[in-house]
Amino acid sequence: MTAVVPPEPTTEALSPFETGPGTPAGKYLRSFWQPVRLSQDLLEGQTQPIAVMGEKFTLYRGVGGKPVVTQAGCAHRQTLLSVGHVEGDSIRCMFHGWKFGADGHCEEAPGQSPSLVERTRIRTYPAHEAYGVVFAYFGDGEPPRFPDIAGFSEKHGKDMMSALVLDCGTYRRNCNYYVNVENALDLAHVPYTHRISSDPTITEVGFSPDVAFVRDVTVERFDFGVRAIEVIDGDAPTVSTVMLPNAMHLIVGQRDGYLEQVAWRVPIDDESHLSFQISALHTDEEGKRRYYEYKARRSELVAKYPSTEVCAEQILRGEKTLLDFADHPDLVNMEDHVAQMGMQFITDRGKENLAQSDKAVIQLRRMFMSRLADFVAGAPTPAGDW
Ligand code: FES
Ligand SMILES: [Fe+2]
Repeated sequence: MTAVVPPEPTTEALSPFETGPGTPAGKYLRSFWQPVRLSQDLLEGQTQPIAVMGEKFTLYRGVGGKPVVTQAGCAHRQTLLSVGHVEGDSIRCMFHGWKFGADGHCEEAPGQSPSLVERTRIRTYPAHEAYGVVFAYFGDGEPPRFPDIAGFSEKHGKDMMSALVLDCGTYRRNCNYYVNVENALDLAHVPYTHRISSDPTITEVGFSPDVAFVRDVTVERFDFGVRAIEVIDGDAPTVSTVMLPNAMHLIVGQRDGYLEQVAWRVPIDDESHLSFQISALHTDEEGKRRYYEYKARRSELVAKYPSTEVCAEQILRGEKTLLDFADHPDLVNMEDHVAQMGMQFITDRGKENLAQSDKAVIQLRRMFMSRLADFVAGAPTPAGDW
């Protein structure tokens, strides 16, 4: 009898948009470190449910300070471990008290036999904390090397760590993660999408007014991804790089110097994603003072409004305009929310007309799809070398 070999998936069947368990892009993204929480949002002894690429997990920080990522539910009857309690570096389920160590082994199961305790375990995932962000590895086997972020900055002519302001942040956006990955190379959106936030007569903080013109971009390809460079006359260029599959590095002018940022767009599911950013503002002492002074006022300004996503939805329904949120600290973000959530990208992809100013986006799509095809065909994932 002849063995039936399933056909290899063709590139046509591959898609960057679907990242649920078992999907090609889902497996591809799972073969890289992915950020899951800001360190400041995971206190010692705290547990949290997280959702990544259509799957649920439990995240907690043991009293020894280490973050731990486990399967969502308890080995006993699958109650969410995120509603359990941290004991030392272990977690105890709130339902019947089974307790699991940071390595996933069952340590106690009240009323059960020692042999059951011995053989029971939950799945845990490698975790790593850097630059104020907790990362996890959801793939099979050993995780790749963790990317050298400071080294990347130096290799590309900057020195992120020397910036006077080094900060991190996160936001949720209700659209497919890949829309926002591509957006990193779509520099032609900046003058229009960010028209209000780059106008100093309207807003207090935001992009430099110099970014407010469409210019031609130069596209460069690297082994790790694609870069778009936009030269602004007499000033430092805007340089934006996507490191496949879902990380990016940006250098862009701000009113108080320039911003260097490394960010990841991580699917929650196929309709929403989280972004995590490590930001370095290269500025002077006065710019630093202004940054922290504005940050201190941030909560008061944000409190005037519903969440950024809700504001964006109000705009998309035609109930408000961006000008109604001119003093919102997340205005830059809200502008992107509106443009990207308004794209109806997944359902209407065939209606897109990519043009000259999309050349970096087109290069990225080609490279993403060819790397995805290589990955599906069994090529090893590049070792996180940017
Ligand atoms: S479900 Fe966790 S101990 Fe029973
Ligand atoms: Fe933008």
